[in-house]
Amino acid sequence: MTERPKILVTQKVPAAVYPLLEAIGDVERNDEEGGIWSHEELLRRAPGHDYIFSLLTDTIDTHFLEACAAATPRLRIVANMAVGYDNIDVDTATRLGITVSNTPGVLSDTTADLAFGLLLAVARRIPEAEGFLRSGEYSGWGPLLFCGTDVHHATLGIIGAGRIGTLMSRRAQGFEMTVLYHNTHRLSEEEEDLYHFSYRPLEQLLQQSDFVSIHVPYSSLTYHLIGKRELQMMKPTAYLINTARGPIVDEKALVRALQAGKIAGAGLDVYEREPAVEPELLQMENVVLLPHIASASLATRTRMATMACDNIVAYHYGQYPPNILNPEVLR
Ligand code: GLV
Repeated sequence: MTERPKILVTQKVPAAVYPLLEAIGDVERNDEEGGIWSHEELLRRAPGHDYIFSLLTDTIDTHFLEACAAATPRLRIVANMAVGYDNIDVDTATRLGITVSNTPGVLSDTTADLAFGLLLAVARRIPEAEGFLRSGEYSGWGPLLFCGTDVHHATLGIIGAGRIGTLMSRRAQGFEMTVLYHNTHRLSEEEEDLYHFSYRPLEQLLQQSDFVSIHVPYSSLTYHLIGKRELQMMKPTAYLINTARGPIVDEKALVRALQAGKIAGAGLDVYEREPAVEPELLQMENVVLLPHIASASLATRTRMATMACDNIVAYHYGQYPPNILNPEVLR
């Protein structure tokens, strides 16, 4: 490549990113605080860039990739600043010879911290109790005031024993919880001992857990993994925690399960039709709702951002991007 590459950064990101990218190319950036370009806007701006630094809010589908592959210069790499990449049609990118990368590992601890925080928040009714105090309703200690559910010594069921799921189990050890897990493949005995958890088929995990926390990636295989049937298997005293991806849970079925008392509550960081949230959930006090912030510590978001840059820079210098998702394009 003789000319400097054209690089698009689709949202305002940690400041460390810009000098890294400006050192190798000409950067077009979206500088609006919290400004997410609509799909139409993205489609208008992206073609003609060599490299795209993307976020999980960008829908990088077949149409988008084909438009970028047909333009001059053609798109070569999409570096997603997220571990999840369900926003990108990786198969189409591969067919068009476009490299795709993500940011695994660096956010696992931060995400597990928040998942555990959500679990504690909903079980001990922390946001609800805080709202009560802030609104001036607190008139004195009461023996029944905001009695919640114990977390210590309870049973946690982890769905997905990958990087984040196993770290969730480590956090549960501090609370002396019994931890069960379900995964597409059973881990070795050594790994089960290391993470202090026991395998269960999904149905048994749902029936036996006091808290069920989801840590699988989203794909067509995990769409509505937790629906009406699964929610009915849970204990009426149990809580569902989701920090993975919204569409893994059938959100309408979750609303109905909560309304009917089939489960006790939920802690959610992700939604099926983000940023929309089923309106009934907003009215429920036994639900804690967060705006997709599981990996949002400044240190972690900065590490994710520089990792996405590292992938672009490596590609630029003809090296193998360390977190490439479709290595076949460079073979
Ligand atoms: C966040 O949701 C991520 O996938 O990094």
